Amino acid sequence: MSPRLATSVGDFALLNPIICGSGEPVLTESGIRAALSAGAAGVIAKSVNERPEAAAQLDRADYTRADSQGRAVAWDRPGSSLFCRSGLQQRAVEDWFAAIARIDREVAAEQRFVAASLVLGSHEGAVQIATIACKAGLRVFELNIGAPHASEAKPGAIVLETEPARVQALVAAVRLATEGMQLWVKLTGLSTNLPALAVAAKQGGADAVVMMGRFMGMIPDIDTFAPVLGTSGAYSGPWALPIVCRFLALSRRAVGKDFALLGTNGVRDGADVARMGLAGASAVEALSAVMLEGFSALTRICDELGALLEARDVTFAELIGRAADRLEGYGEQPVNPGRWQDFVPVATRRELANVP
Ligand SMILES: Cc1cc2nc3c(=O)[nH]c(=O)nc-3n(C[C@H](O)[C@H](O)[C@H](O)COP(=O)(O)O)c2cc1C
Repeated sequence: MSPRLATSVGDFALLNPIICGSGEPVLTESGIRAALSAGAAGVIAKSVNERPEAAAQLDRADYTRADSQGRAVAWDRPGSSLFCRSGLQQRAVEDWFAAIARIDREVAAEQRFVAASLVLGSHEGAVQIATIACKAGLRVFELNIGAPHASEAKPGAIVLETEPARVQALVAAVRLATEGMQLWVKLTGLSTNLPALAVAAKQGGADAVVMMGRFMGMIPDIDTFAPVLGTSGAYSGPWALPIVCRFLALSRRAVGKDFALLGTNGVRDGADVARMGLAGASAVEALSAVMLEGFSALTRICDELGALLEARDVTFAELIGRAADRLEGYGEQPVNPGRWQDFVPVATRRELANVP
């Protein structure tokens, strides 16, 4: 693997910036091993929480893909967006964490990792489960306080936190239970105060913030007149990447350059990883690409990023935050009267001077 790919999340060194995000492909040990064999520097193992309803929700999960116009298409048709409802890991937490900790120990020397992940159910549950992760010897705990399904799942099964003071208090409590571990906090895509939430997570003692979770959508079917899959669903695709990049850049400004950010939502190729890096991400979590294409997507993304860095004679670490730090306000742009006229139909310009 190209040495240009090396990165770190704070002081946690990684072989490359490509992490397999939490989701069904990494619901089993064999899936986690496949992601690592494909070249991922790490895996966020499928999430757990303390609520049986959240695990039971997996039995009602369903998935489809959507094309570039947001139209649902059959799973075997081209379309790089995903629309789904999901649920959580059904294995007992102690058993699951013991299993993933074994794999984490096997790959630790290669600057790879397997992380425990929790989708928030309750503050007390988060602390309990973080304690189990720490006892299992895991090195990374990801606390997802923004899973998109909160409004649709059974009440209380999944909880979304968007209030900075509550986030800070929760992170501080989980921090106490995860001494010596990396604590990464994954934020929602359903709120616009991500910079404030990132600051709150930092103040609570997080080592890094991951942004941003998927959006919620509803796709009406024009033949059945019913919603596709029958419900709202989490919706993500390459179109989300610019939105994530903006929030990465704004959050970098809010938390400072030394605090690590990770990007998720929309990464489909190596150039996307570079874009997230330029926006301020030290690493990315990619999942849909694996669902759409298989674990070989991770190999492809690593290879594409390696080639991109080679062609530009830079390392990934040298890219981090470069575009974010050049992000300007509208008022700083050069004055250019009439520029808008180049972007409207001719009919709009007829009454203006010198237009035929
Ligand atoms: C089917 C599916 C299941 C997911 N399950 C989880 C989960 O259990 N925990 C979690 O934190 N994120 C979960 N995610 C979110 C992904 O980890 C990832 O952040 C998101 O899909 C955006 O990245 P992508 O565009 O590469 O898919 C899931 C996503 C999908 C598509």
